[in-house]
Amino acid sequence: MSTITHDVVIIGSGAAGLTAAINLAQDRKVVVLAKGALDGGSTNWAQGGIAAVLDAGDSFEAHVEDTMVAGAGLNNRETVEFVVSEAPAAIERLAALGVPFNPNEAGGGEEFGERWHLTREGGHSHRRIVHVDDATGHAVQVALLKAARANPNITLLEDMVAIDLITGRHGEKYSGEGHVWGVYAFNKQTKHVDAILGRATILCTGGAGRTYLFSTAPRGATGDGIAMAWRAGCRVSNMEMNQFHPTCLYNLEVKNFLITEAVRGEGGHLKLPPGVPGGGERFMPRFDPRGELAPRDIVARAIDHEIKRLGLDYVHLDISHKPPEFVRQHFPTIYARLLDLDIDITKEPIPVVPAQHYTCGGVVIDLDGRTDLPGLYAAGEVTESGLHGANRLASNSLLECFVFGEAAAKHIRAHWDDLPAPPAVRPWDESRVTNSDEEVIVQHNWKEIRRFMWDYVGIVRTTKRLERAQHRIDLLAKEVDEYYGHFRVTPDLIELRNLLEVARLVVRSALHRKESRGLHYTLDYPDMLPEAVDTVLAP
Ligand code: FAD
Ligand code: SIN
Repeated sequence: MSTITHDVVIIGSGAAGLTAAINLAQDRKVVVLAKGALDGGSTNWAQGGIAAVLDAGDSFEAHVEDTMVAGAGLNNRETVEFVVSEAPAAIERLAALGVPFNPNEAGGGEEFGERWHLTREGGHSHRRIVHVDDATGHAVQVALLKAARANPNITLLEDMVAIDLITGRHGEKYSGEGHVWGVYAFNKQTKHVDAILGRATILCTGGAGRTYLFSTAPRGATGDGIAMAWRAGCRVSNMEMNQFHPTCLYNLEVKNFLITEAVRGEGGHLKLPPGVPGGGERFMPRFDPRGELAPRDIVARAIDHEIKRLGLDYVHLDISHKPPEFVRQHFPTIYARLLDLDIDITKEPIPVVPAQHYTCGGVVIDLDGRTDLPGLYAAGEVTESGLHGANRLASNSLLECFVFGEAAAKHIRAHWDDLPAPPAVRPWDESRVTNSDEEVIVQHNWKEIRRFMWDYVGIVRTTKRLERAQHRIDLLAKEVDEYYGHFRVTPDLIELRNLLEVARLVVRSALHRKESRGLHYTLDYPDMLPEAVDTVLAP
């Protein structure tokens, strides 16, 4: 086992991790780990953009209110106000790093901000989304990575799969302290486990979309950070709140391509496909006066309802009534990708279905990004900061990454002298050997979890379905614990263990909530209770 010591260990190289790294590197040495490629997280895939109040006609109050309405009142108002007020400065920092936001070419007017073109998405009462065409996340990832690579205080390590946080119990001499001093990580290149130590650790590992069969998130979104923090002793909150994006491309080969909400924001209509009663007609106005621009939970549930009612495979999203040049200019990535699949979006509708998209719940943090454990911070999708409540407002999540990545870094720098240096730690036990026969079972278990989470813990829930899922989790847990205890760790086994842990937290939280609120909709408790209460689980 190698031991590497830096000032600060950051797990994750997406928007949250790199924002924190760039700020910390002003006076600290940081190491950033990614479990695959450095651009392998959700950040690189984000399409629509970043929400911020940048137009004279808009206001912080309106952004706060829209966020609280989407979040069905479960948000923490203090957090929402903090993030919304920090947003314009975060956008300025990104622009200074070279993110080429689409400019305000028309020189003002209702749909334009002062400097940048602002698009609209569901639940926003104003145009307030800055973007880089329909591939904003890629532009952000490229700019942040460029800045990080150029900084001598930042070491970027890819192919390092974090397994567990290093706490007092891993010290050579046992210490009951909960302080976190870094992480054990499986090095995919050497196939050994290394200890990466630092005075502070920031979890920026993203979400857990791959707990579900259909998800817009990349392959690595297996909730590793949530599971690691939980095992180390952190509270998690609102894990039942899984966001389903209404419009993922329906295609038998390409299973997770998102069609950005901005397509609806720029006038796209959701319609029933031909051949059924009402075929070719818009259906959203029957469900909500805001039509296609209602918050995501409402649109996703309406699509799910129509699909089940009419026995459909998908519904249609149609923007072909807009001028072809407008469509190509606003959505060049989607236009090109779908043309490859023989769908010309300037002439025909897009078949779409809802898919898991965002993990609203996560590790509990405060406004400085601090978790329950000293030395452990967290930022981005891995967290439950209080911003999203029961349903995230579109384009608020990249924003959360920039604001909390920065906040955590600032807190660490300001309190550096209070952070103790890491002790000598015990090496990872590498005496176990892999049994290759069993690796197939790891794959099977992974698929089984994703299938029953989709079937029983999806858009519409019942207590019976949740109990069925819980039963399956209990059975699988015995098997997974056994593998984990007997066989050498592999990236797949590490992820399976985490996936199961997260599935367990989601189901436990969903069973706990005896109401329907935001993303948690159950036929057994269809009404919302008068008081909004977080589902907080403590280890
Ligand atoms: P990520 O960008 O997901 O990065 C996670 C990092 O953690 C990766 O580097 C990964 O390698 C690393 N990691 C994970 N586990 C381990 C481990 N065990 N060991 C080591 N490293 C690990 N939000 C918006 O605001 N606007 C949008 O337009 C938008 N569009 C989206 C489109 C799509 C298709 C998707 C999937 C999401 C979109 N979102 C959008 C959500 C947003 O992209 C994410 O919430 C955000 O990018 C998360 O950033 P992050 O830094 O928290 O994590
Ligand atoms: C999208 O572009 O529709 C995704 C935006 C988001 O997830 O915030």
